[in-house]
Amino acid sequence: MHSNLTPAKLSEQLASSFVDKSCPKNRKARGQFFTPLPVARFMADLAEYRKRILRVLDAGGGTGTLSCAVCEAAAKRKTVKRIEIDTYEDSPSLARFLRHSLAFSKQWLAERGIELTYNVIEKDFILSVPQGLWANQVVPYDLAIGNPPYFKIGKDDPRAVAAARFVHGQPNIYALFMGLAAEVLSDKGLMVFITPRSYASGPYFELFRNRFFAMMQPERVHLFESRMDAFKKDEVLQENIILKARKAGNASRLRISVSPGIDSLNRAASYDLSASKVLYSTAKDMVFRLPASQRDIEIIDIVEQWTGGLHRYGLQISTGPVVPFRATDLILNDKHVNNDTAPLLWMQNVHSMKIEWPNFNMKNSRKKPQFIKTNEKTLRKRLLIADQNIVLLRRFSAKEDSRRLIAAPLLRGQLDAKLIGLENHLNYIYRPTGELTKPQAMGLSALLNSSLLDRYFRISNGNTQVSATEIRAMPLPPLQVIDQVGQIVWQLDHIPEREEIDNLVWDTVQSS
Ligand SMILES: C[S@@+](CC[C@H](N)C(=O)[O-])C[C@H]1O[C@@H](n2cnc3c(N)ncnc32)[C@H](O)[C@@H]1O
Repeated sequence: MHSNLTPAKLSEQLASSFVDKSCPKNRKARGQFFTPLPVARFMADLAEYRKRILRVLDAGGGTGTLSCAVCEAAAKRKTVKRIEIDTYEDSPSLARFLRHSLAFSKQWLAERGIELTYNVIEKDFILSVPQGLWANQVVPYDLAIGNPPYFKIGKDDPRAVAAARFVHGQPNIYALFMGLAAEVLSDKGLMVFITPRSYASGPYFELFRNRFFAMMQPERVHLFESRMDAFKKDEVLQENIILKARKAGNASRLRISVSPGIDSLNRAASYDLSASKVLYSTAKDMVFRLPASQRDIEIIDIVEQWTGGLHRYGLQISTGPVVPFRATDLILNDKHVNNDTAPLLWMQNVHSMKIEWPNFNMKNSRKKPQFIKTNEKTLRKRLLIADQNIVLLRRFSAKEDSRRLIAAPLLRGQLDAKLIGLENHLNYIYRPTGELTKPQAMGLSALLNSSLLDRYFRISNGNTQVSATEIRAMPLPPLQVIDQVGQIVWQLDHIPEREEIDNLVWDTVQSS
Protein backbone atom coordinates (compact mmCIF):
# COMPACT_ATOMS: atom_id res chain seq x y z
CA MET A 1 0.00 0.00 0.00
CA HIS A 2 1.18 3.54 -0.73
CA SER A 3 2.97 5.06 2.25
CA ASN A 4 1.10 8.35 1.96
CA LEU A 5 -2.18 6.60 2.39
CA THR A 6 -4.05 7.65 5.52
CA PRO A 7 -7.15 5.98 6.98
CA ALA A 8 -9.55 8.68 5.82
CA LYS A 9 -8.06 8.77 2.32
CA LEU A 10 -8.43 5.01 2.04
CA SER A 11 -12.00 5.21 3.25
CA GLU A 12 -12.82 7.93 0.73
CA GLN A 13 -11.34 5.77 -2.06
CA LEU A 14 -13.49 2.85 -0.91
CA ALA A 15 -16.54 5.13 -0.96
CA SER A 16 -15.74 6.19 -4.54
CA SER A 17 -15.40 2.60 -5.70
CA PHE A 18 -18.68 1.73 -3.99
CA VAL A 19 -20.35 4.67 -5.74
CA ASP A 20 -18.91 3.57 -9.10
CA LYS A 21 -20.26 0.06 -8.71
CA SER A 22 -23.66 0.71 -7.16
CA CYS A 23 -26.91 1.98 -8.55
CA PRO A 24 -27.70 5.66 -7.76
CA LYS A 25 -31.36 4.86 -7.17
CA ASN A 26 -30.54 2.26 -4.50
CA ARG A 27 -28.01 4.53 -2.89
CA LYS A 28 -30.56 7.30 -2.70
CA ALA A 29 -33.20 4.99 -1.25
CA ARG A 30 -30.78 3.92 1.50
CA GLY A 31 -29.36 7.36 2.17
CA GLN A 32 -25.88 6.44 1.01
CA PHE A 33 -24.19 9.78 0.43
CA PHE A 34 -20.62 9.77 1.60
CA THR A 35 -18.85 12.57 3.41
CA PRO A 36 -16.17 14.23 1.28
CA LEU A 37 -12.74 14.03 2.90
CA PRO A 38 -12.32 17.76 3.71
CA VAL A 39 -15.74 17.79 5.42
CA ALA A 40 -14.91 14.63 7.41
CA ARG A 41 -11.63 16.16 8.55
CA PHE A 42 -13.31 19.44 9.41
CA MET A 43 -15.88 17.58 11.49
CA ALA A 44 -13.28 15.44 13.25
CA ASP A 45 -11.33 18.60 14.12
CA LEU A 46 -14.40 19.95 15.89
CA ALA A 47 -14.24 17.07 18.36
CA GLU A 48 -12.14 17.00 21.56
CA TYR A 49 -9.20 14.73 22.20
CA ARG A 50 -8.49 15.34 25.86
CA LYS A 51 -9.22 11.88 27.28
CA ARG A 52 -6.84 8.94 27.35
CA ILE A 53 -9.64 6.62 26.24
CA LEU A 54 -12.03 7.99 23.65
CA ARG A 55 -15.28 6.12 23.05
CA VAL A 56 -16.73 6.90 19.64
CA LEU A 57 -20.06 6.15 18.00
CA ASP A 58 -20.31 6.34 14.21
CA ALA A 59 -23.92 5.48 13.37
CA GLY A 60 -24.43 4.72 9.68
CA GLY A 61 -20.71 4.26 9.16
CA GLY A 62 -20.61 3.82 5.36
CA THR A 63 -16.97 3.11 4.48
CA GLY A 64 -15.86 4.71 7.74
CA THR A 65 -14.58 8.12 6.58
CA LEU A 66 -15.75 9.90 9.72
CA SER A 67 -14.28 7.30 12.09
CA CYS A 68 -11.03 7.34 10.13
CA ALA A 69 -10.91 11.15 10.26
CA VAL A 70 -11.33 10.91 14.06
CA CYS A 71 -8.38 8.48 14.19
CA GLU A 72 -6.26 10.91 12.20
CA ALA A 73 -7.27 13.88 14.35
CA ALA A 74 -6.50 11.94 17.55
CA ALA A 75 -3.07 11.00 16.21
CA LYS A 76 -2.25 14.71 15.78
CA ARG A 77 -2.74 15.26 19.51
CA LYS A 78 -0.80 13.56 22.24
CA THR A 79 -3.42 12.66 24.85
CA VAL A 80 -5.54 9.86 23.42
CA LYS A 81 -3.97 6.43 23.96
CA ARG A 82 -6.90 4.26 23.04
CA ILE A 83 -9.86 4.75 20.73
CA GLU A 84 -12.91 2.49 20.96
CA ILE A 85 -15.23 2.78 17.97
CA ASP A 86 -18.71 1.30 17.64
CA THR A 87 -20.04 1.72 14.15
CA TYR A 88 -23.43 0.60 12.85
CA GLU A 89 -23.87 -0.13 9.16
CA ASP A 90 -26.80 -2.16 7.92
CA SER A 91 -25.55 -2.65 4.38
CA PRO A 92 -23.36 -5.79 4.23
CA SER A 93 -21.30 -4.57 1.28
CA LEU A 94 -20.50 -1.30 3.03
CA ALA A 95 -19.81 -3.11 6.29
CA ARG A 96 -17.08 -5.05 4.43
CA PHE A 97 -15.45 -1.78 3.33
CA LEU A 98 -15.85 -0.43 6.84
CA ARG A 99 -13.96 -3.37 8.34
CA HIS A 100 -11.26 -2.86 5.77
CA SER A 101 -10.74 0.85 6.55
CA LEU A 102 -10.87 0.29 10.31
CA ALA A 103 -8.35 -2.57 10.11
CA PHE A 104 -6.08 -0.22 8.22
CA SER A 105 -6.69 2.50 10.85
CA LYS A 106 -5.78 0.07 13.63
CA GLN A 107 -2.41 -0.64 12.08
CA TRP A 108 -1.86 3.05 11.18
CA LEU A 109 -2.64 4.14 14.75
CA ALA A 110 -0.52 1.37 16.29
CA GLU A 111 2.46 2.81 14.40
CA ARG A 112 1.69 6.07 16.21
CA GLY A 113 1.39 4.57 19.67
CA ILE A 114 -2.42 4.54 19.82
CA GLU A 115 -4.54 1.46 20.27
CA LEU A 116 -7.76 1.10 18.29
CA THR A 117 -10.56 -1.34 19.09
CA TYR A 118 -13.67 -1.39 16.94
CA ASN A 119 -17.00 -3.13 16.48
CA VAL A 120 -18.64 -3.05 13.10
CA ILE A 121 -22.24 -3.77 14.02
CA GLU A 122 -24.04 -4.93 10.91
CA LYS A 123 -27.47 -3.97 12.16
CA ASP A 124 -30.04 -1.26 11.95
CA PHE A 125 -28.87 1.44 14.35
CA ILE A 126 -32.35 2.65 15.25
CA LEU A 127 -33.63 -0.81 16.07
CA SER A 128 -30.60 -2.08 17.93
CA VAL A 129 -29.18 0.80 19.93
CA PRO A 130 -32.16 1.34 22.25
CA GLN A 131 -32.20 -2.35 23.10
CA GLY A 132 -28.53 -2.23 24.00
CA LEU A 133 -29.19 0.86 26.06
CA TRP A 134 -32.04 -0.70 27.98
CA ALA A 135 -30.04 -3.88 28.53
CA ASN A 136 -27.14 -1.76 29.83
CA GLN A 137 -24.96 -3.15 27.04
CA VAL A 138 -24.22 0.23 25.52
CA VAL A 139 -21.48 2.02 27.42
CA PRO A 140 -22.01 5.77 26.91
CA TYR A 141 -19.87 7.45 24.26
CA ASP A 142 -17.62 10.51 24.51
CA LEU A 143 -18.16 11.38 20.87
CA ALA A 144 -20.93 10.65 18.37
CA ILE A 145 -19.85 11.62 14.89
CA GLY A 146 -22.25 11.13 12.03
CA ASN A 147 -23.55 11.72 8.58
CA PRO A 148 -26.80 9.80 8.98
CA PRO A 149 -29.01 8.63 6.12
CA TYR A 150 -31.76 11.07 5.09
CA PHE A 151 -35.10 9.85 3.90
CA LYS A 152 -38.67 9.92 5.07
CA ILE A 153 -40.14 6.84 6.67
CA GLY A 154 -43.74 5.93 7.42
CA LYS A 155 -45.17 6.50 10.87
CA ASP A 156 -45.67 2.75 11.20
CA ASP A 157 -42.14 1.88 10.14
CA PRO A 158 -40.60 -0.17 13.00
CA ARG A 159 -37.85 2.45 13.28
CA ALA A 160 -40.37 5.25 13.76
CA VAL A 161 -42.13 3.13 16.36
CA ALA A 162 -38.85 2.34 18.16
CA ALA A 163 -37.98 6.04 18.36
CA ALA A 164 -41.55 7.31 18.73
CA ARG A 165 -40.51 9.79 21.41
CA PHE A 166 -38.87 11.89 18.67
CA VAL A 167 -41.59 11.50 16.07
CA HIS A 168 -44.47 13.74 15.14
CA GLY A 169 -46.00 13.58 11.68
CA GLN A 170 -43.87 12.03 8.97
CA PRO A 171 -40.42 11.27 10.38
CA ASN A 172 -37.13 11.65 8.57
CA ILE A 173 -34.67 8.97 9.59
CA TYR A 174 -31.82 11.42 10.18
CA ALA A 175 -33.60 12.97 13.17
CA LEU A 176 -33.97 9.53 14.75
CA PHE A 177 -30.23 8.99 14.37
CA MET A 178 -29.57 12.34 16.04
CA GLY A 179 -32.00 11.73 18.88
CA LEU A 180 -30.73 8.22 19.66
CA ALA A 181 -27.08 9.23 19.35
CA ALA A 182 -27.75 12.00 21.87
CA GLU A 183 -29.29 9.48 24.26
CA VAL A 184 -26.25 7.21 24.23
CA LEU A 185 -23.73 9.99 24.85
CA SER A 186 -22.15 10.41 28.26
CA ASP A 187 -22.74 13.66 30.12
CA LYS A 188 -20.54 16.37 28.57
CA GLY A 189 -20.09 14.05 25.58
CA LEU A 190 -19.98 15.68 22.13
CA MET A 191 -21.96 15.15 18.99
CA VAL A 192 -20.71 16.31 15.59
CA PHE A 193 -23.30 15.62 12.90
CA ILE A 194 -23.86 16.77 9.37
CA THR A 195 -27.55 16.73 8.46
CA PRO A 196 -30.21 18.65 6.57
CA ARG A 197 -31.23 21.82 8.38
CA SER A 198 -34.92 21.02 8.25
CA TYR A 199 -35.03 20.04 11.93
CA ALA A 200 -34.32 23.64 12.88
CA SER A 201 -37.92 24.78 12.47
CA GLY A 202 -41.43 23.77 11.52
CA PRO A 203 -44.10 21.65 13.17
CA TYR A 204 -42.85 18.22 12.01
CA PHE A 205 -39.69 18.49 14.04
CA GLU A 206 -41.18 20.27 17.04
CA LEU A 207 -41.23 17.20 19.24
CA PHE A 208 -37.74 16.28 18.12
CA ARG A 209 -36.39 19.77 18.88
CA ASN A 210 -37.95 19.88 22.29
CA ARG A 211 -36.48 16.52 23.27
CA PHE A 212 -33.16 16.84 21.53
CA PHE A 213 -32.31 20.32 22.76
CA ALA A 214 -33.36 19.40 26.29
CA MET A 215 -30.37 17.01 26.18
CA MET A 216 -27.95 18.78 23.89
CA GLN A 217 -26.49 22.26 24.02
CA PRO A 218 -25.23 23.51 20.63
CA GLU A 219 -21.72 24.96 20.69
CA ARG A 220 -20.87 25.36 17.04
CA VAL A 221 -22.76 25.37 13.78
CA HIS A 222 -21.32 25.44 10.29
CA LEU A 223 -23.45 26.60 7.39
CA PHE A 224 -22.82 26.11 3.69
CA GLU A 225 -23.80 29.22 1.80
CA SER A 226 -25.89 28.57 -1.27
CA ARG A 227 -24.00 29.31 -4.43
CA MET A 228 -25.53 26.85 -6.85
CA ASP A 229 -23.31 27.31 -9.86
CA ALA A 230 -20.02 27.59 -8.02
CA PHE A 231 -19.87 24.10 -6.60
CA LYS A 232 -22.09 21.61 -8.32
CA LYS A 233 -20.52 18.61 -6.63
CA ASP A 234 -21.46 20.06 -3.24
CA GLU A 235 -25.09 20.40 -4.25
CA VAL A 236 -26.22 17.99 -1.60
CA LEU A 237 -24.44 20.03 1.06
CA GLN A 238 -26.30 23.22 0.41
CA GLU A 239 -29.22 22.57 2.63
CA ASN A 240 -26.98 20.90 5.19
CA ILE A 241 -25.46 22.06 8.41
CA ILE A 242 -22.82 20.72 10.73
CA LEU A 243 -23.80 20.81 14.37
CA LYS A 244 -21.47 20.35 17.30
CA ALA A 245 -23.44 19.99 20.51
CA ARG A 246 -22.65 18.89 24.05
CA LYS A 247 -24.80 16.67 26.20
CA ALA A 248 -25.80 18.49 29.39
CA GLY A 249 -23.63 21.38 28.24
CA ASN A 250 -23.93 24.86 29.62
CA ALA A 251 -22.18 27.12 27.10
CA SER A 252 -23.82 30.51 26.99
CA ARG A 253 -22.18 31.43 23.68
CA LEU A 254 -22.08 29.70 20.38
CA ARG A 255 -19.98 30.04 17.24
CA ILE A 256 -21.44 30.03 13.76
CA SER A 257 -19.23 29.68 10.72
CA VAL A 258 -20.19 30.02 7.09
CA SER A 259 -18.35 28.86 3.98
CA PRO A 260 -19.43 28.93 0.36
CA GLY A 261 -18.50 25.30 -0.16
CA ILE A 262 -16.13 22.48 0.67
CA ASP A 263 -12.92 23.98 -0.62
CA SER A 264 -13.16 27.05 1.57
CA LEU A 265 -14.08 25.19 4.78
CA ASN A 266 -11.04 26.22 6.73
CA ARG A 267 -11.25 29.82 5.62
CA ALA A 268 -14.85 30.12 6.79
CA ALA A 269 -16.02 33.40 8.28
CA SER A 270 -17.14 32.88 11.84
CA TYR A 271 -18.63 34.86 14.69
CA ASP A 272 -19.81 34.28 18.23
CA LEU A 273 -23.22 35.02 19.59
CA SER A 274 -25.36 34.36 22.59
CA ALA A 275 -26.77 30.82 22.63
CA SER A 276 -30.18 32.21 23.53
CA LYS A 277 -30.33 34.01 20.16
CA VAL A 278 -29.92 30.71 18.38
CA LEU A 279 -32.07 28.42 20.48
CA TYR A 280 -35.14 30.54 20.68
CA SER A 281 -38.08 29.38 22.77
CA THR A 282 -41.64 30.41 22.15
CA ALA A 283 -44.53 29.46 24.45
CA LYS A 284 -44.71 25.90 23.14
CA ASP A 285 -41.90 25.40 20.72
CA MET A 286 -38.21 25.85 20.35
CA VAL A 287 -36.70 27.14 17.13
CA PHE A 288 -33.08 26.62 16.19
CA ARG A 289 -32.21 29.75 14.29
CA LEU A 290 -29.23 30.12 12.07
CA PRO A 291 -28.17 33.70 11.49
CA ALA A 292 -25.46 33.61 8.82
CA SER A 293 -23.92 37.05 9.42
CA GLN A 294 -23.66 39.98 11.78
CA ARG A 295 -26.35 41.64 9.69
CA ASP A 296 -28.69 38.71 10.41
CA ILE A 297 -28.22 39.26 14.13
CA GLU A 298 -29.13 42.94 13.72
CA ILE A 299 -32.25 41.86 11.83
CA ILE A 300 -33.28 39.58 14.69
CA ASP A 301 -32.80 42.48 17.11
CA ILE A 302 -34.86 44.91 15.04
CA VAL A 303 -37.74 42.54 14.35
CA GLU A 304 -37.94 41.22 17.88
CA GLN A 305 -38.32 44.66 19.35
CA TRP A 306 -41.72 44.72 17.68
CA THR A 307 -44.58 43.61 19.86
CA GLY A 308 -47.27 43.53 17.17
CA GLY A 309 -48.48 40.55 15.16
CA LEU A 310 -51.43 39.34 13.12
CA HIS A 311 -53.40 38.17 16.14
CA ARG A 312 -52.80 41.38 18.05
CA TYR A 313 -54.13 43.37 15.13
CA GLY A 314 -57.27 41.23 14.89
CA LEU A 315 -56.08 39.61 11.64
CA GLN A 316 -56.23 36.00 10.53
CA ILE A 317 -54.20 33.98 8.08
CA SER A 318 -55.79 31.00 6.34
CA THR A 319 -54.96 28.66 3.51
CA GLY A 320 -56.77 28.96 0.18
CA PRO A 321 -59.71 26.52 0.34
CA VAL A 322 -59.66 25.26 -3.28
CA VAL A 323 -57.85 21.93 -3.62
CA PRO A 324 -57.90 21.44 -7.40
CA PHE A 325 -57.96 17.65 -7.54
CA ARG A 326 -61.03 17.64 -5.30
CA ALA A 327 -62.72 20.28 -7.40
CA THR A 328 -62.06 19.13 -10.97
CA ASP A 329 -65.75 19.49 -11.83
CA LEU A 330 -65.78 23.07 -10.55
CA ILE A 331 -62.73 24.73 -12.07
CA LEU A 332 -62.64 25.87 -15.68
CA ASN A 333 -60.76 27.97 -18.16
CA ASP A 334 -63.57 30.31 -19.22
CA LYS A 335 -62.38 33.59 -20.58
CA HIS A 336 -64.64 35.85 -18.62
CA VAL A 337 -66.42 36.25 -15.28
CA ASN A 338 -70.17 35.94 -15.42
CA ASN A 339 -72.86 35.28 -12.88
CA ASP A 340 -71.90 31.63 -12.66
CA THR A 341 -68.11 31.90 -12.33
CA ALA A 342 -65.56 33.60 -10.13
CA PRO A 343 -61.81 34.25 -10.53
CA LEU A 344 -59.59 31.44 -9.28
CA LEU A 345 -56.18 32.60 -8.10
CA TRP A 346 -53.17 30.28 -7.97
CA MET A 347 -49.79 30.85 -6.43
CA GLN A 348 -48.53 31.61 -9.94
CA ASN A 349 -50.93 34.55 -10.23
CA VAL A 350 -49.28 36.23 -7.25
CA HIS A 351 -46.07 38.22 -7.63
CA SER A 352 -44.37 40.72 -5.39
CA MET A 353 -47.02 43.50 -4.89
CA LYS A 354 -48.87 42.43 -8.01
CA ILE A 355 -51.62 40.05 -9.06
CA GLU A 356 -51.68 38.93 -12.66
CA TRP A 357 -55.10 37.53 -13.38
CA PRO A 358 -56.32 36.02 -15.62
CA ASN A 359 -53.11 34.55 -16.96
CA PHE A 360 -53.55 31.91 -19.63
CA ASN A 361 -49.87 31.87 -20.52
CA MET A 362 -48.19 30.53 -17.42
CA LYS A 363 -46.27 27.28 -17.34
CA ASN A 364 -48.65 24.32 -17.46
CA SER A 365 -51.46 26.82 -17.85
CA ARG A 366 -53.90 24.12 -18.98
CA LYS A 367 -53.59 22.66 -15.51
CA LYS A 368 -54.29 25.97 -13.83
CA PRO A 369 -57.78 27.01 -14.84
CA GLN A 370 -58.44 30.64 -14.02
CA PHE A 371 -62.11 30.34 -13.07
CA ILE A 372 -64.26 28.48 -10.61
CA LYS A 373 -67.99 27.89 -10.75
CA THR A 374 -70.14 29.71 -8.24
CA ASN A 375 -72.77 27.05 -7.87
CA GLU A 376 -74.49 25.51 -4.92
CA LYS A 377 -71.60 23.05 -4.38
CA THR A 378 -68.81 25.68 -4.21
CA LEU A 379 -70.90 27.74 -1.84
CA ARG A 380 -71.81 24.77 0.32
CA LYS A 381 -68.18 23.70 0.52
CA ARG A 382 -67.14 27.27 1.33
CA LEU A 383 -64.63 27.30 -1.50
CA LEU A 384 -65.10 31.01 -2.23
CA ILE A 385 -64.42 34.12 -0.21
CA ALA A 386 -66.21 37.45 -0.49
CA ASP A 387 -64.40 40.13 -2.48
CA GLN A 388 -62.58 42.29 0.09
CA ASN A 389 -59.17 43.81 0.84
CA ILE A 390 -56.79 40.97 1.64
CA VAL A 391 -53.13 40.05 1.36
CA LEU A 392 -52.15 37.00 -0.65
CA LEU A 393 -48.98 35.16 0.25
CA ARG A 394 -47.41 32.27 -1.61
CA ARG A 395 -47.08 29.13 0.52
CA PHE A 396 -44.16 27.72 -1.43
CA SER A 397 -41.11 29.06 -3.13
CA ALA A 398 -38.60 27.40 -5.38
CA LYS A 399 -35.11 26.85 -3.97
CA GLU A 400 -33.67 29.17 -6.58
CA ASP A 401 -36.11 32.02 -5.79
CA SER A 402 -34.28 34.93 -4.28
CA ARG A 403 -37.11 35.40 -1.75
CA ARG A 404 -39.18 33.09 0.40
CA LEU A 405 -41.95 35.59 1.09
CA ILE A 406 -43.91 36.74 -1.95
CA ALA A 407 -47.04 38.74 -1.21
CA ALA A 408 -49.50 40.99 -3.00
CA PRO A 409 -52.53 43.01 -1.93
CA LEU A 410 -55.86 42.06 -3.50
CA LEU A 411 -58.11 45.08 -3.21
CA ARG A 412 -61.90 45.05 -3.25
CA GLY A 413 -63.20 45.53 -6.79
CA GLN A 414 -59.82 44.80 -8.38
CA LEU A 415 -61.02 41.65 -10.15
CA ASP A 416 -64.53 42.92 -10.75
CA ALA A 417 -66.11 39.95 -9.01
CA LYS A 418 -68.16 39.47 -5.86
CA LEU A 419 -66.62 36.12 -4.98
CA ILE A 420 -63.03 34.89 -5.32
CA GLY A 421 -61.55 31.39 -5.34
CA LEU A 422 -58.12 30.89 -3.77
CA GLU A 423 -56.13 27.79 -4.54
CA ASN A 424 -54.52 25.81 -1.76
CA HIS A 425 -50.92 26.91 -2.44
CA LEU A 426 -51.85 30.41 -1.30
CA ASN A 427 -52.32 31.83 2.16
CA TYR A 428 -54.50 34.89 2.64
CA ILE A 429 -54.54 37.44 5.43
CA TYR A 430 -57.83 39.11 6.27
CA ARG A 431 -59.77 40.74 9.07
CA PRO A 432 -62.52 38.32 10.16
CA THR A 433 -64.62 41.07 11.70
CA GLY A 434 -64.61 44.02 9.33
CA GLU A 435 -62.02 44.48 6.63
CA LEU A 436 -58.38 45.44 6.22
CA THR A 437 -58.08 49.00 4.95
CA LYS A 438 -56.42 49.43 1.55
CA PRO A 439 -53.29 51.00 3.05
CA GLN A 440 -53.09 48.19 5.59
CA ALA A 441 -53.31 45.54 2.84
CA MET A 442 -50.68 47.39 0.80
CA GLY A 443 -48.43 48.09 3.78
CA LEU A 444 -48.57 44.51 5.04
CA SER A 445 -47.78 43.19 1.56
CA ALA A 446 -44.83 45.57 1.24
CA LEU A 447 -43.50 44.49 4.63
CA LEU A 448 -43.77 40.81 3.76
CA ASN A 449 -41.94 41.46 0.50
CA SER A 450 -39.17 43.43 2.19
CA SER A 451 -35.76 41.86 2.63
CA LEU A 452 -36.00 42.68 6.33
CA LEU A 453 -38.85 40.23 6.97
CA ASP A 454 -37.76 37.82 4.26
CA ARG A 455 -34.36 37.49 5.87
CA TYR A 456 -35.87 37.23 9.35
CA PHE A 457 -38.04 34.41 8.08
CA ARG A 458 -35.09 32.59 6.48
CA ILE A 459 -32.94 32.78 9.58
CA SER A 460 -35.44 30.54 11.34
CA ASN A 461 -36.58 28.53 8.40
CA GLY A 462 -34.56 26.55 5.90
CA ASN A 463 -37.56 25.12 4.10
CA THR A 464 -39.12 26.47 0.98
CA GLN A 465 -42.56 26.36 2.59
CA VAL A 466 -44.21 29.30 4.25
CA SER A 467 -46.64 28.03 6.83
CA ALA A 468 -49.49 30.05 8.31
CA THR A 469 -48.22 29.11 11.79
CA GLU A 470 -44.91 30.81 11.12
CA ILE A 471 -46.52 33.97 9.77
CA ARG A 472 -48.81 34.06 12.81
CA ALA A 473 -45.74 33.90 15.07
CA MET A 474 -43.88 36.61 13.15
CA PRO A 475 -43.47 39.92 15.02
CA LEU A 476 -44.87 42.94 13.16
CA PRO A 477 -44.19 46.67 13.62
CA PRO A 478 -46.89 48.98 15.01
CA LEU A 479 -50.03 49.19 12.88
CA GLN A 480 -49.32 52.89 12.19
CA VAL A 481 -46.04 51.86 10.55
CA ILE A 482 -47.82 49.31 8.37
CA ASP A 483 -50.41 51.94 7.52
CA GLN A 484 -47.76 54.54 6.74
CA VAL A 485 -45.89 52.19 4.38
CA GLY A 486 -49.23 51.37 2.72
CA GLN A 487 -50.15 55.04 2.28
CA ILE A 488 -46.87 55.68 0.48
CA VAL A 489 -47.24 52.62 -1.76
CA TRP A 490 -50.81 53.59 -2.57
CA GLN A 491 -49.73 56.99 -3.79
CA LEU A 492 -47.04 55.61 -6.09
CA ASP A 493 -47.84 55.62 -9.79
CA HIS A 494 -46.11 52.30 -10.31
CA ILE A 495 -45.68 48.93 -8.65
CA PRO A 496 -42.59 49.21 -6.47
CA GLU A 497 -39.61 46.96 -7.16
CA ARG A 498 -37.85 45.13 -4.36
CA GLU A 499 -35.22 47.78 -3.79
CA GLU A 500 -37.78 50.53 -3.52
CA ILE A 501 -39.79 48.43 -1.06
CA ASP A 502 -36.68 47.76 1.00
CA ASN A 503 -35.79 51.44 1.24
CA LEU A 504 -39.34 52.45 2.01
CA VAL A 505 -39.81 49.82 4.73
CA TRP A 506 -36.41 50.49 6.21
CA ASP A 507 -36.90 54.28 6.34
CA THR A 508 -40.37 54.00 7.85
CA VAL A 509 -39.31 51.44 10.44
CA GLN A 510 -36.26 53.48 11.43
CA SER A 511 -38.16 56.72 11.79
CA SER A 512 -41.03 55.23 13.80
C1 LIG B 1 -25.24 9.36 4.54
S1 LIG B 1 -24.40 7.83 4.59
C2 LIG B 1 -22.93 8.31 5.42
C3 LIG B 1 -21.88 7.28 5.47
C4 LIG B 1 -20.64 7.66 6.25
N1 LIG B 1 -20.92 7.90 7.64
C5 LIG B 1 -19.99 8.88 5.69
O1 LIG B 1 -19.99 9.88 6.36
O2 LIG B 1 -19.50 8.84 4.56
C6 LIG B 1 -25.36 6.92 5.75
C7 LIG B 1 -24.98 5.46 5.94
O3 LIG B 1 -25.89 4.87 6.85
C8 LIG B 1 -26.24 3.56 6.41
N2 LIG B 1 -27.57 3.27 6.96
C9 LIG B 1 -28.78 3.63 6.46
N3 LIG B 1 -29.77 3.26 7.30
C10 LIG B 1 -29.17 2.67 8.35
C11 LIG B 1 -29.66 2.09 9.55
N4 LIG B 1 -30.97 2.09 9.81
N5 LIG B 1 -28.77 1.57 10.42
C12 LIG B 1 -27.45 1.58 10.15
N6 LIG B 1 -26.92 2.12 9.03
C13 LIG B 1 -27.77 2.66 8.15
C14 LIG B 1 -26.20 3.64 4.91
O4 LIG B 1 -25.97 2.37 4.32
C15 LIG B 1 -25.03 4.63 4.69
O5 LIG B 1 -23.83 3.93 4.58
